[in-house]
Amino acid sequence: MDITIRPIDKINSVITVPGDKSISHRAVMFGSIAQGDTEISGFLTGDDCMSTISCFKKLGIDIEVKGENVVVHGKGLHGLTAPTELLDVGNSGTTIRLISGLLSGQTFDCRLNGDASIQKRPMNRVIKPLSQMGAKIASTNDGYAPLAITGAKLKGIEYHMPVASAQVKSSILLASLYAEGETVVIEDMPSRDHTEIMLNYFGADIINENGRITSHPVKELYGRPLTVPGDISSAAFFIAAALLTPDSEITVTNVGINKTRTGIIDAFLEMGADIKVINERLAGGELVGDLVVKTSKLKAITLGGDIIPRMIDEIPVFVVAALAAEGTTVVKDAQELKVKESNRIATMIEELGKMGAKITETDDGMIIEGGQKLTGGTTYSHLDHRVAMSVAVAALNAKGDTTITDADCVGISFPNFYELLNSLR
Ligand code: S3P
Repeated sequence: MDITIRPIDKINSVITVPGDKSISHRAVMFGSIAQGDTEISGFLTGDDCMSTISCFKKLGIDIEVKGENVVVHGKGLHGLTAPTELLDVGNSGTTIRLISGLLSGQTFDCRLNGDASIQKRPMNRVIKPLSQMGAKIASTNDGYAPLAITGAKLKGIEYHMPVASAQVKSSILLASLYAEGETVVIEDMPSRDHTEIMLNYFGADIINENGRITSHPVKELYGRPLTVPGDISSAAFFIAAALLTPDSEITVTNVGINKTRTGIIDAFLEMGADIKVINERLAGGELVGDLVVKTSKLKAITLGGDIIPRMIDEIPVFVVAALAAEGTTVVKDAQELKVKESNRIATMIEELGKMGAKITETDDGMIIEGGQKLTGGTTYSHLDHRVAMSVAVAALNAKGDTTITDADCVGISFPNFYELLNSLR
């Protein structure tokens, strides 16, 4: 499907965005290995989370989906059963990396694969630590999916993370539930901690002492009701849209504002953005709030260091904002962008380039001259949901219309994205 986005005059809206993708995946996975029912509300029914549901159904778990309400009938830590077919993770890196850890300690074997993009995403980052734990996990494609896992007995390890990655950390922590002895993961820079929060909510014993995360095995996990907050990664597109569009104000209600995820808000505030967080509250151990955002004159900043993992998925839309800011923005320490659903350094430079933007690529990021006024253009999503949505935000304040080809990939994380965007008009 192709989509054409017209420029917008102003935005004045109160919206909610779909449930958090990271939390929705985890609710299904952890609910499946907990005893009893986990009733989830606010679940993200995007394609990635539906891939997770499909994998756990193949592992013998009964899961009822009624729109955003999902009930997982968990069978306890040792209740999964051998799948009779390949587990297809679709486009979801979170599914394949987390499930690899979880399946390494089972008593059965399985095979995992996904789409063409998944087959280009590095899996050695989980194969290495899991193998150290005793897992029998092999790639039949030189470090990429497909993966074959043979059930094995695991032992705890101490693992110093070479890259900040919540997916790798979570994979190890899930394996730790099946390992003998304690497992320690050491993080130099904090990555999202939804796994630690939710596993503990279900009865696990995981503590984080200044980046040293220790998991002690427990006998069982217990299912509990869970409310998934709105995804800050999805809210970010509308936050940027309101900041960049003249005379605008948007309120995004019920957004997850866990501090391991709010790098984008901190970055925009440093640029001079008018963003207020109101109604802060806790739900299922996660901090939630409403965001009130007004049109702002933004100044360039240098983005690097430990803010990067706290906003890794929001950097594409941050780049759109930097093009409108005053001064030169530098994005550094962001090599991880190269191994997302697409190489997001290359694809963002290429697609915004079709709208007239000039951005310089560097080894670990990019240099963005501010004050660039974009024209419309015909762009391509690269089948990457966040590239499509970032280009759509850029299109709102471009001079002409912008077409995005293969635009339906937004269904991965934000199925009603274009409808919500149109509702702003
Ligand atoms: C995710 C972690 C991040 C992020 C991805 C979701 C998660 O990946 O980019 O969209 O749910 O754990 P890395 O941890 O590999 O950086």
